[in-house]
Amino acid sequence: MNKVIIDCDPGIDDSLAIMLALNSPEIDVIGITIVAGNSPVELGFKNAKRILKFLGRLDVPVYAGASAPRKREYVNALDTHGSDGLGESFLPEVEGQKIPEKSAVKFMEESLLQSDVSVIALGPLSNLAELIDKAPSAFLSIKRLVSMGGNFRSHGNCSPVAEYNYWEDPDSAKLVFDTLYENHKKIEMVGLDVTREIVLTPEILAEMKRANPITGDFIEKITSFYFKFHWEWEHIRGCVINDPLAVAQFLNPDILSGFEAFTEVETGGISLGQTVVDSMSFYRKESNALIYTKVDKAVFWEMFLTRVLNIEPEYCKAKFSNLILR
Ligand code: RIB
Ligand code: CA
Repeated sequence: MNKVIIDCDPGIDDSLAIMLALNSPEIDVIGITIVAGNSPVELGFKNAKRILKFLGRLDVPVYAGASAPRKREYVNALDTHGSDGLGESFLPEVEGQKIPEKSAVKFMEESLLQSDVSVIALGPLSNLAELIDKAPSAFLSIKRLVSMGGNFRSHGNCSPVAEYNYWEDPDSAKLVFDTLYENHKKIEMVGLDVTREIVLTPEILAEMKRANPITGDFIEKITSFYFKFHWEWEHIRGCVINDPLAVAQFLNPDILSGFEAFTEVETGGISLGQTVVDSMSFYRKESNALIYTKVDKAVFWEMFLTRVLNIEPEYCKAKFSNLILR
C-alpha cells in the first residue's frame, strides 16, 4: 500500500482529486495538508472536512499549512472557485473539526522521516518550501513527488505563460525545483499541457448523475460555478478538472507520458511563475523534472468514473465511452 500525503488548496478540482484518492485501494492517504491557494488556508481546511464528511472519511487527518506565499502577496482564486471555495455550494460546516495544533509541515516532517511516504501536491508549493527550510532531510526522503502545476507549451492560466499554483508562489516553486536539482531528484510535473485535456462536460456530468445520483448531484453542486467560469473566460463547455489527473498519474503511471528536463521557475518580471523547461538541454544540466505532455484520456476517465461513482468498467464503457473521446 502506498502511503500518500495530499497537499492541496480545496478548491473544486482538489475536492474531486480527494474523492478519487479516497476511492483508490492502492493508496493510503495518511493525511491531507492544506496550503493557501484557491482558498485561504482556514477555508481550505473547512472545505477538506466538507469533502471528507461527504465521503464518510473524517478519519483522515487534516492539517493547516502556509497562509501566504513565500514572498509575494497572497492572491486567492475564489473568482474561479466561488466565494466559499467550493463552487458556492455553501455546504454546511462540519461540526467540531478544529484546526490541529500540529502544523502541516510538522506532520509532513514526522511522517516522511518515519516511513516511505509520497506527496501529491495539488496547490502552490509553499508547504514543501517550508519543509525544505525546516526539515530538508524529510523533504529529500519523499518517495514520489507528483505536482499539478506549471506548463510546457500550453499557455498559462494566470498570465500568458504562468499556471496558478506556481504563479501564486513562484519562490516556493523555485526552491522546490532547485533543491531537487541540487540533490539529483525529480518532480513529476502534471501541467496544463495535459490537464487541459481533461474536461468535465455537461454530458458527462448528466451521465454521472444517472450512474450515481448521490455522488453525481454532489459533484454538480460543487462544479456548476466552475462551468460558468470556464464558459465566461475561455468559452469552454464544461470545466477543466486539473487535480484529479495528478492523483490518477500517481495511481497509474501509464496515463501520462512526457520527457525529463532541467526546469526552473521564474520568480520575477513579466514571466513570473513560468516553468522554463530546458527541453533541448541548452544548459547541459541534469533533469530535475518529468514533464508530462500526453494523456490517455480514456484510461483517466475510466479510472475516475468507476472509482468516484462506484460503477463497473463495463457499465462505464457502455454509458460514457462516446462522451469521453469527443
Ligand atoms: O492552475 C490550476 C491549479 O490551480 C489547480 O490545482 C487548481 O486547483 C488551482 O490550485
Ligand atoms: Ca489545487
